[in-house]
Amino acid sequence: MSSNKVDIFDTTLRDGEQVPGCKLNTKEKIELALALEDMGVDIIEAGFPISSPGDFESVEKISKVITKSSVCGLSRAVQKDIEVAAAALKHAKRPRIHTGIGTSDIHIKGKFNSTREEILERAIQCVKWAKNFVDDVEFYAEDAGRTDNDYLAKVVEAVIKAGATVVNIPDTTGYCLPSQYGAKMNYLINNVPNIDKAILSCHCHNDLGLATANSIEGVINGARQIECTINGLGERAGNTSLEEVVMVLKQHKDLSYYTNINAKKLYPMSRLVSDIMRMPVQPNKAIVGANAFSHSSGIHQDGFLKSAITYEIIDPVEVGADTSKIVLTARSGRSALAFRLKNLGYDFNRNDVDALYEKFLQVADAKKEVGDEDLHHLAKQQEIVEA
Ligand code: KIV
Ligand code: ZN
Repeated sequence: MSSNKVDIFDTTLRDGEQVPGCKLNTKEKIELALALEDMGVDIIEAGFPISSPGDFESVEKISKVITKSSVCGLSRAVQKDIEVAAAALKHAKRPRIHTGIGTSDIHIKGKFNSTREEILERAIQCVKWAKNFVDDVEFYAEDAGRTDNDYLAKVVEAVIKAGATVVNIPDTTGYCLPSQYGAKMNYLINNVPNIDKAILSCHCHNDLGLATANSIEGVINGARQIECTINGLGERAGNTSLEEVVMVLKQHKDLSYYTNINAKKLYPMSRLVSDIMRMPVQPNKAIVGANAFSHSSGIHQDGFLKSAITYEIIDPVEVGADTSKIVLTARSGRSALAFRLKNLGYDFNRNDVDALYEKFLQVADAKKEVGDEDLHHLAKQQEIVEA
């Protein structure tokens, strides 16, 4: 089996930017590309050069400033697309062309009105054409998730023979179950004779909320690259979220995989993307959501205050987030109230806290969250009673 290093291929600037309202200009794309490189992303998919002059310019300028990561440009299995991608990547230190075609019968018939034989030939030709311009060619078998495994194995073998260095197995529609996606990777590992000459890549969409699970299952079954986006942005329900797969692999030492990502940059990166794309992060988003390290129910707060690991599997500092939060609501308990009061400088004994707690609950029942101002008010009332 190959190494346990998993390459992180970030497609925030391509699949992520396809989200309505998330379009970026060249300056914004360069800023994000530099931050992605700084965070340790191995491959940055910078755009789809033939799609617009603006995207061509972005890929070209990103290619000039990125020195450590590979810079990748997307193309269809069309000669002109590939030539334009190659031109945009001309200045890249590590250029990669990402080319491919739909391989499921649904795509072959519904999109191309073609046959499996013709599509296989086009797949071979596009890789061969791309190899005229760059060494590093990634082939994508679009809708691989719904492609017959036997045919997919033939395509994968043929494109590797044609020179593909990476073969992407996209679950384009987010249809697969983790067990199915894992079994697909396993099938390819065991049925493609030249599989040792290329890296298999996971590219999962989140239509059923399974993108992260599918990508991890893909790696467990032999893939060594994950395609993902910051905050899980992407077409429809989005792509695999970078911060999630990186932290799954980091936390599960039992799996013994690793990535180059500096996890401390995950939270700042998430905020940068959210700000630049003007796309808020849902509060309960794993790893980077505002509530990812907040505790609000009494039982959890009590346990957390005694020992953080009772209710937290990640120290927020590890992902560059603020410290954990104790949020006060009508579901919070006395220990959380005492903790927050102490943080505000009040040193009440147990009886005082008991007395305060009843008044606190009245405020909490009337509001969604009890804030510092409310606490000061309650504490002052208590001090007057005691005086
Ligand atoms: O989802 C997909 O299949 C894609 C390909 C273009 C790689 O984004
Ligand atoms: Zn995609």
